[in-house]
Amino acid sequence: MPIYKYDDQSLKNAAELIKKGELVAFPTETVYGLGADGLNPIAVAKIFEKKNRPAFNPLILHIADKNTLKDYAFYEDPIIDKLTDKFWPGPLTLVLPKKDTVPDIVTSGNETVAIRMPNNEIALRLITLSERPIAAPSANKFGHLSPTDAEHVSKSLGNDLFILDGGKCAVGLESTIIGYKNGIFSLLRPGGIPIEEIEKITGALTIKDKEEISPESPGQLPFHYSPEIPLYIINRSGMSDKNFLNSLGNKKVGLLLFKEDNPDIESVLHNYSKKILSESGNLAEAAANLFKFLHDFEKEKVDLILTEPVEPSGLGLAIMDRLKRAAERYKI
Ligand code: TXA
Ligand code: MG
Repeated sequence: MPIYKYDDQSLKNAAELIKKGELVAFPTETVYGLGADGLNPIAVAKIFEKKNRPAFNPLILHIADKNTLKDYAFYEDPIIDKLTDKFWPGPLTLVLPKKDTVPDIVTSGNETVAIRMPNNEIALRLITLSERPIAAPSANKFGHLSPTDAEHVSKSLGNDLFILDGGKCAVGLESTIIGYKNGIFSLLRPGGIPIEEIEKITGALTIKDKEEISPESPGQLPFHYSPEIPLYIINRSGMSDKNFLNSLGNKKVGLLLFKEDNPDIESVLHNYSKKILSESGNLAEAAANLFKFLHDFEKEKVDLILTEPVEPSGLGLAIMDRLKRAAERYKI
């Protein structure tokens, strides 16, 4: 099955497939999702199979109406309502105690469920027309880059999948995931909503360290966002990495810069292709371009990617999180 441009007919066909327990890849504002009927365990199992995803990694349930949150999760704290009023629809995922309505395969046996309401008209219409919540991880093979357009999805998951094409994702980074336990809010994954915005409502978030995050949110394992090619984060002047840069010789380098040229580094490289995440230094634009540019470097078949760090505040925190994860196994 090829890629289908979004219109009323393709949307209807996609919803029929979801109802029949089949998979559909669909756009959200963050990244494309690989969706299945979230209340049908056999349909959900197909997601794990298609992604080669370890069964211990739980999925996010996508809803189209804030009021249905209570159908799947327990909570009383009014701060949760404040969060959903402020950020839904949008790139915020809440992890809350689950109700029995949610099949165990969705949560990988956890007593909690991750839920969000995406801010994308196509996603919302698909969920509404399917008449059930849609369980969906990012629509890529496990451990690969998240897709931000329909072509990225077909490249990673192949052609025997119905892909609803809604163009490029507006945010381009996965949702921010917030946990809630005993009245305490914690950050499980930085993402499309800056934590500073969330903390205005929740107060300071507990930020767990990597080791602690891993078992609870296994998608947080290092390497998770690695593109196929090595990625190295070097400091902006490149001075401390001079030996390394000199050793590259004629290797083809994908140079990922934040907002402007970098003469210090460029003067040492012989063979490189350069991409600038946001020429105006806008973090939202940088986030939206991040996965796309990494995909583009893969297409260009560069031998390695060099990138400079971004200030880790606001959306910069999520950008640095993804870059560090991609870089983890390729430490110099
Ligand atoms: O923006 C997004 O969040 C995208 C779009 C498609 O909605 N989805 C996405 O899903 O990024 P995925 O599966 O690639 O990442 C979901 C993350 C994983 O790291 C998973 O471990 C964590 O959410 N997660 C899901 N349920 C959880 C739970 N009950 N407790 C803790 N972490 C959970
Ligand atoms: Mg993912």
